[in-house]
Amino acid sequence: MADPREVLAQRVRMALADTLGAEYADADAVIRPSAFADYQANVALPLAKRLGRPPRDVATQIADHVHLDDVCDKIDVSGPGFINFSLRDEWVAGQAADQFADPRLGVPEADPAHKTVVDYSSPNVAKEMHVGHLRTTIVGDAVVRILEHLGHAVVRANHLGDWGTQFGMLIEHLLDVGEESARQQLSTGEINAFYQAARAKFDSDPGFAERSRNRVVALQGGDEETLRLWQLVIDDSKQYYNTIYRRLGVTLTDADLAPESFYNPMLASVCDELRAAGIAVISDGALCVFPPGFTGRDGAPLPMILRKRDGGYGYDTTDLAAIRYRISDLKAARLIYFVAAEQSLHFQMLFAAARQAGWLTGEVSAEHAVIGLVSGADRKRIRTRTGDQVKLITLIDEAVERAERVIADRYDDPGLRHEIAEAVGIGALKYGDLSVARDSGYVFDFDRMLALTGNTGPYLQYATTRARGIFRKAGLDPDKATGDIHITHDAERALALTLLGFGTAVCQAADTAEPHVLAAFLFDVASAFTTFYEVCPVLKAAGDTERESRLALSALTLRVLSTGLDLLGIPLPERM
Ligand code: ARG
Repeated sequence: MADPREVLAQRVRMALADTLGAEYADADAVIRPSAFADYQANVALPLAKRLGRPPRDVATQIADHVHLDDVCDKIDVSGPGFINFSLRDEWVAGQAADQFADPRLGVPEADPAHKTVVDYSSPNVAKEMHVGHLRTTIVGDAVVRILEHLGHAVVRANHLGDWGTQFGMLIEHLLDVGEESARQQLSTGEINAFYQAARAKFDSDPGFAERSRNRVVALQGGDEETLRLWQLVIDDSKQYYNTIYRRLGVTLTDADLAPESFYNPMLASVCDELRAAGIAVISDGALCVFPPGFTGRDGAPLPMILRKRDGGYGYDTTDLAAIRYRISDLKAARLIYFVAAEQSLHFQMLFAAARQAGWLTGEVSAEHAVIGLVSGADRKRIRTRTGDQVKLITLIDEAVERAERVIADRYDDPGLRHEIAEAVGIGALKYGDLSVARDSGYVFDFDRMLALTGNTGPYLQYATTRARGIFRKAGLDPDKATGDIHITHDAERALALTLLGFGTAVCQAADTAEPHVLAAFLFDVASAFTTFYEVCPVLKAAGDTERESRLALSALTLRVLSTGLDLLGIPLPERM
């Protein structure tokens, strides 16, 4: 089976090569849905320019030569030079039947498969896990699932911020409040409050500040008791992150932690290597790299600081060590960093420096998958009424509570109601992040996320449970549908054509690290299915052939939607 747009594009390119010459064979056929037929090709317009001929002429020439007898029953030229294609019902039905028979539902197996390191989530222990980290977690995890489904080897890298001078004051604060109560706070997600209390003391109490600074020295010097206390802070915070990951169905585990401290033993050698290569130089007492092409407002070259004057290492050094490790030791062919837009410059400089160092070569792709800001209604970071950072777990709880209210009147059994609300609330929250282009910011809005219509998690879940409901009602197993598909109605045709795009959507989402491409596809499927469901009776179809065919289309829809939602990490309630 194949995506009709790809079949058309390929045949058009063959026609171009036949009639215009081989050099035209890789032109973009620009296949789009058409208002007059199923699809149209807009290829003639740019080509006409190149050839210096009227576009309608070129369009007619292509239409006359393209071999599509098996696929189309009508091809014509309209407007200034659009080529319109109407597909044969039997061809559409045949492709849908092939997709039905394919266990991979038309999603190809990556060839060649390669190793990708995906850096995502990466909260800072010493600070806070804010809603921005939630977004990198959700979007990154979807891309990980998609890449693995295509057969790529994926290394999840949770670049946890577990190192730095802040730990001096956190450890001292832990000693002040007592281990027991500090641990309680950290593991339940009161990380912000804990951090702020430490910070306040640091700013107002010179004795505490002094103790904190000494503690940093002890930590960096490897003092055993200090390391034990540091480990407590990390472990308790980890416990909180894990609670969130499990609740959200995120695939990250402790095995995926590659925290900043992991790279400590490599930092000195990174500095030495870059210095020996003449790439790192001393500037103002600090060891710096000045990747070419980056200048500040005053025109002066911008540094990445490898080693501060006081000998300390920082975020830049760690990321250089990490990129070297991921390429040289892990042998990754692709690196994707799901990190907030604010850090764009950091990653551009990081990649430039890694290229200078010779680590990042043409064989490796390094991508900063930019994540836009999620803001509150006031377009600022989401805060509570008192101006505090919102605890993530509170946000998740609220999504579930609200979901429960949305579905409250449908279920009397409180256990079942709660189970469904959990899936709907979390699905809505996650889908809210996945349905928009990842680099664009958006305003966080529970009401919009939880709406049962429109491009929302609940709408997709609802369409899926409806497809499943057809089989439940009739006591049939969707896996035992015959797969005989016949097209007799426009809504069947539209649904089948949409479903055929599954493989393309998955591949595109993987190539661009943009799960919203897959989300948009699934929304189209859900919409096409909803129309089909409303106008084409399935169980009460006119005859057996029609009924079998509609059951097969429903079963195929169910499989594509549930597989697709699983690739996005959206949970599916049993019913809704
Ligand atoms: N911990 C960082 C932050 O919260 C994100 C780390 C992203 N990954 C990286 N390799 N720099 O801003």
